[in-house]
Amino acid sequence: MQAEQARTKAPRYAAICESFATDERIAALIEDPPRWDAPLRVMSALHYLVLAGRASWDDIDTALVEHADFLRRHIAQQGVQTNEVQRCWSLLPCFLEVAHRTGAAVFDVIELGSSAGLNLGWDSYRYEYAAGTWGPADATVAFTGEERRPVPAHLLTLAPVVRTRTGVDLNPIDLTTDHGIHLLKSFIWVGQDDRLARLDRAIGALRDNPPEMIAGDLADVLPVLLANRATDALTVVWQTAVLGYLPEQRRELVLQTLAEAGAVGPLAFISTSSANDGSHLYYGLTIQLWPSGERVQVAHADWHGAFIDWLPADQRTADDAVIAF
Ligand SMILES: C[S@@+](CC[C@H](N)C(=O)[O-])C[C@H]1O[C@@H](n2cnc3c(N)ncnc32)[C@H](O)[C@@H]1O
Repeated sequence: MQAEQARTKAPRYAAICESFATDERIAALIEDPPRWDAPLRVMSALHYLVLAGRASWDDIDTALVEHADFLRRHIAQQGVQTNEVQRCWSLLPCFLEVAHRTGAAVFDVIELGSSAGLNLGWDSYRYEYAAGTWGPADATVAFTGEERRPVPAHLLTLAPVVRTRTGVDLNPIDLTTDHGIHLLKSFIWVGQDDRLARLDRAIGALRDNPPEMIAGDLADVLPVLLANRATDALTVVWQTAVLGYLPEQRRELVLQTLAEAGAVGPLAFISTSSANDGSHLYYGLTIQLWPSGERVQVAHADWHGAFIDWLPADQRTADDAVIAF
């Protein structure tokens, strides 16, 4: 599965994953039965060693022998911990769609599973779409991507102001340390050098302007944040690639927390979801707004934000099953 998803984007990563699938030395390092994200944790463990200069992709055999203890520990204890800043490119139109639909000019934003917090600075980055640009022209982090169906021009004229930004993560990554930087980079697929370079630029930007980060379980922290939210700005909660890691009951609790808070006052939720056309090769991007509670899938998007497909009105269904990833 992991090899299949990576084959076109990171052939070397895919080939290594494929060879590991039948490698008994790898099977001995992971839990039995393996959890779905075991390949991600195995690849991260090796990549961490490579980034730290302690192993080489050209000699995996030696790494498996010399660093078996580290590998076993990392694979068992280290949860998947990426922070893909290119996702901002597919998220921005969703933030703007929220501004369009609600008329809100000021946002208080909360990111669930914010990892190192890089995407909390989405409004400080520069974006390019077919219909125009958005964000400061002198930003050090700039994004472009493939538009399968274009982001509408009218959205790019909106400029909601982010008043407060809060991230919640079980293990916020501290990007002021080499360990934090190596850890974050270790989950990037081998060979995706453009992602590594973009990450370096985003790390520089975050160090200049760090967001507020709360260490904790989002299902426990969210009710507190929502109960204390201000009423003179729209609270916009979002998650990308996080809820799928929660047990179903905890995920349901999060959705229930949002619905209960939405019943009390306006609220927006943006979420990566399963695509409403049944494809398993990309995400759906779903927006839910309260007080109406209306849920709409506005786009399909690449796992890591490389493409967006902005859906026409007649393809925007979003049933209860979609908020899953
Ligand atoms: C795959 S990463 C995605 C990070 C980020 N949202 C992005 O799109 O780049 C998943 C993140 O969710 C966090 N996470 C997983 N379960 C969590 C929970 N119950 N509460 C808070 N954070 C959680 C992990 O620590 C990790 O940082």
